[in-house]
Amino acid sequence: MKAEHVSLTAIMTAFIRGYHATHDAPVVFKDSLALQLIPEERRRLIEQGLTTAVAQTESPDGNVTTLHQVSLSPILQTMGLPNVISRSRYTEDNLKSEISKGVEQYVILGAGLDTFAFRHKDLLKEIKVFEVDQPDTQEFKRKRLADLNWGIPRNLHFVPADFSKERLAEALLGSPYNPSVKSLFSMLGVTMYLSPDDAFETLRSITQIASAGSSVIFDYHTKTDASLHEIRKELQRMGESMNTTFDPLGLGVELEKLGFHLCEDLSPVDIQERFFARRTKVYHANENVHLAWAVWQ
Ligand SMILES: C[S@@+](CC[C@H](N)C(=O)[O-])C[C@H]1O[C@@H](n2cnc3c(N)ncnc32)[C@H](O)[C@@H]1O
Repeated sequence: MKAEHVSLTAIMTAFIRGYHATHDAPVVFKDSLALQLIPEERRRLIEQGLTTAVAQTESPDGNVTTLHQVSLSPILQTMGLPNVISRSRYTEDNLKSEISKGVEQYVILGAGLDTFAFRHKDLLKEIKVFEVDQPDTQEFKRKRLADLNWGIPRNLHFVPADFSKERLAEALLGSPYNPSVKSLFSMLGVTMYLSPDDAFETLRSITQIASAGSSVIFDYHTKTDASLHEIRKELQRMGESMNTTFDPLGLGVELEKLGFHLCEDLSPVDIQERFFARRTKVYHANENVHLAWAVWQ
């Protein structure tokens, strides 16, 4: 990502979660706070841009101009909505079950406008939450939280870090993070934006500060999706190129070398079956995206 740059993909994924929570039924993942974290002017611009794009496809000379008159679902399907909502659902379901098995810290890498800590103030009485993100994006979020007057829960900690410039372990050790208790790390919508070296270095860094039984959940792309050519070009223009894909056949071995056991790797077929098949005909798991859960032993 470019220096001094607020992640537009973080804003977009928050918009996607918020749109899903307020416009779709049934919901796969309910994030009723996400839209509030996007400043009104930016939210309006996103809605306008998407509405115009859909309206032009549906009726090139029609007068469809407001969000209430069009469904953004088809365009948000292409922009990765199923990936965004299924990875959050998967992570938070597993987190809740891991807390009952002794996890005391949740570390959100590349947190963007994640709202977990504000939706689960009850759980923050039991666990500490760390949001790690590139400094400009984190600063943008903190300013918005202040503007909204949302109090920061006592157990929520912000840790600025750019994974292309610094080690996650060093950044976390300078915070109230405790390396001797069990933690769950998430890295959602992040691996594809890092270089392969930075992605693996970040995973390696986890092993230097995690206690046995800690784990990491991340999504990854398996190959460049030709149908996303235009979106990839746009991302590149925004300074957030998608660079990295992993080979599902070799990932387990690569993770073993770091000391992780890949205990689950959901393919698009698995994700479709688990999150979409019996819930909605509108969305389908995105092609070439996997969800991985690896345990440090
Ligand atoms: C697509 S957004 C995903 C945000 C959030 N995890 C979600 O699911 O909505 C990508 C996130 O990765 C972060 N990111 C990208 N490159 C990074 C880097 N080199 N160091 C730290 N964070 C980075 C961005 O700042 C942004 O918050």
